[in-house]
Amino acid sequence: MSSVEIKKGIYWVGVVDWDIRYFHGPSYSTHRGTSYNSYLIMDDQVTLVDAVFAPFAGELMENIRSVVDPSRIDNVVVNHIETDHAGGLPVVLQAAPKAKIFCTAKAKAGLLKHFPEAKEWNFRVVKTGDTLPVGRRTLTFVEAPMLHWPDSMFTYIGEEELLLPNDAFGQHLASGHRFDDEVDQHVLMEEAAKYYANILYPLSRMVLKKLEEVKGMNIPISMIAPSHGIIWRGDPGKIIQAYQRWASGEGQEKALVVYDTMWGSTATMARAITEGLISEGIEARQYKISKTDYSDVIKEMLEARLVVVGSSTIHRHFLASLSPFLDEVGSLKPVKRMGAAFGSYGWSKGAVKGIEGRLQGAGIELVKEGLELLWVPDEEEKKECFEWGRSLASFAKNK
Ligand SMILES: Cc1cc2nc3c(=O)[nH]c(=O)nc-3n(C[C@H](O)[C@H](O)[C@H](O)COP(=O)(O)O)c2cc1C
Ligand SMILES: [Fe+2]
Ligand SMILES: [Fe+2]
Repeated sequence: MSSVEIKKGIYWVGVVDWDIRYFHGPSYSTHRGTSYNSYLIMDDQVTLVDAVFAPFAGELMENIRSVVDPSRIDNVVVNHIETDHAGGLPVVLQAAPKAKIFCTAKAKAGLLKHFPEAKEWNFRVVKTGDTLPVGRRTLTFVEAPMLHWPDSMFTYIGEEELLLPNDAFGQHLASGHRFDDEVDQHVLMEEAAKYYANILYPLSRMVLKKLEEVKGMNIPISMIAPSHGIIWRGDPGKIIQAYQRWASGEGQEKALVVYDTMWGSTATMARAITEGLISEGIEARQYKISKTDYSDVIKEMLEARLVVVGSSTIHRHFLASLSPFLDEVGSLKPVKRMGAAFGSYGWSKGAVKGIEGRLQGAGIELVKEGLELLWVPDEEEKKECFEWGRSLASFAKNK
């Protein structure tokens, strides 16, 4: 794809990566690919905001060339140093060796550690409130530490009511379209949610603070152009409200039953527990983790107030197939979630206690004593599971 004019004289010059299926290693599946978005601001001075992932640098340069000779770039704004946005910088700077680089102090230090050639670059370190007049327009910088790296910042263009927040408000979604009003809303919000859950969840307190700060600045925002996926033009408020909801842990009357089993007993328990939750009007969903992409389950935790996790005991432990999911939950620390554990065992037990420890470690409040059953559940025990699920429903409800 070539450049796309997103505002008069401002161009998307990014690239679409249709093929990527995992981001950050195996922990975040990207079923719908992604894009690395760069923006070119044509004014008295020519400014590039963010580069792209290195393998796509050639395509970035072609897209820039469709608008302007890259040697005319005066300024390069680096909102974030992660390699999916800064990897292409050496190629850009080769074409525009005199360009000034605007970034935070942490970003400068980071770039120097990423690229040996950065020693030659013409850095201008900026702080919140610093501005860069480029002609008819002025860029304002807002530091956004830990949203999502220490170096992160947002760039705002008042004359255009345009926010360029880099990774914030993004989605891993490859598309021939560039704008929110051109794409399926369900797909867009699903990918925005998965992105929040897998990248920003543990930073939720900082997200809330930053949202307050931006609201307090009383700046009009008619367009949010993130560094991945679709640009919010039709309804930028939609993603801001969604972030508010996700960061505050509000959630819905939903429950997830996540489990694994060797011979089916824990599956029988899971089924009855799910039925019990459903009987109380809760939207409950059951996932056998060895057959499920766990980053999709974590996305659902944004909306589900309750997560019930089950495993049979193996060597006094829960099944290893649950480990990646529990590890990830432990590091992402879902906000205000409640949980409980269950499972079948043969002699010593161990799985339920292990799961409970992991849920607590993730900051999930245990709301009921774990349910452990010996060997294969009989009819009475299935009823017990159903009732156990039913009794958990109140925790998923709006209190
Ligand atoms: C390799 C293996 C190791 C096991 N280790 C334990 C154990 O340490 N403690 C225990 O209580 N049960 C242990 N069990 C028994 C299972 O927990 C029991 O068979 C349970 O009913 C299986 O439930 P499932 O059908 O949901 O997998 C083990 C079973 C297997 C196959
Ligand atoms: Fe990033
Ligand atoms: Fe990124």
